[in-house]
Amino acid sequence: MPHPLLVGNWKMHGSRSMVADLLAALKLGSAGLKGIDVAVCPPFPYLSDAASLLAGSSVYLGAQDVAVHESGAFTGEVSAPMLRDVGCRYVIVGHSERRSLFGEDCALVARKFRAATAQGLIPILCVGEQLAERAADDTETVLATQIDAVLELCGDSALARAVIAYEPVWAIGTGRVATPEQAQAVHRFIRGRVSRAGDTPTLLYGGSVKPQNAAGLFAQPDVDGGLIGGASLAADQFLSICKAAISQ
Ligand code: PGA
Repeated sequence: MPHPLLVGNWKMHGSRSMVADLLAALKLGSAGLKGIDVAVCPPFPYLSDAASLLAGSSVYLGAQDVAVHESGAFTGEVSAPMLRDVGCRYVIVGHSERRSLFGEDCALVARKFRAATAQGLIPILCVGEQLAERAADDTETVLATQIDAVLELCGDSALARAVIAYEPVWAIGTGRVATPEQAQAVHRFIRGRVSRAGDTPTLLYGGSVKPQNAAGLFAQPDVDGGLIGGASLAADQFLSICKAAISQ
């Protein structure tokens, strides 16, 4: 099993002073954490600051999105080579907010995945179902469609070492977390879909993970860590979630 991985998705929050304070606290608090990987994904304008502030720590840097093109006349876009250049290791692709609010479909997400891996970035592929899809018993069909789009474009082994974040859309930012059993059932399905012998994809759960529910989720055999939104904006909460992953 890979090291547990804890990723903070800051979304569109922050300021230069907030980034400095939060990263100083994370740098200090994460110094003694062994056996897990920790990453933060600040908004684009703060990536360079964050890279400098995290120098000498074991906290990795990630971005929240990436363009499909390497460079050119694409106003407003940020490319994978640029993310590498400022020190990113990870990039989130296909977050449900990008899919639902910005019209990103599975084909575009797959191209973003490919653009990231082409530059040596590790994509964190987000997948998840809406509440109505779960109610209609369509969760596995929805996830299979989201995953298969990447496999079709990038090849059968594209997800063998990747990071996949299962984020039920109804749990994101709502305070309504999936039960550990619900998370485990879906993670088991995902692992079955993407893994062959020897493959070790890292499967994160995301959606209202908090210090009080993290341990139960991370105790599940197919949950390898978390993608944390709101609770990653407070150093004490994020660190306590990281510690919950170590003690499993
Ligand atoms: P949340 O967000 O932890 O605030 O629910 C998770 C995410 O959107 O990645």
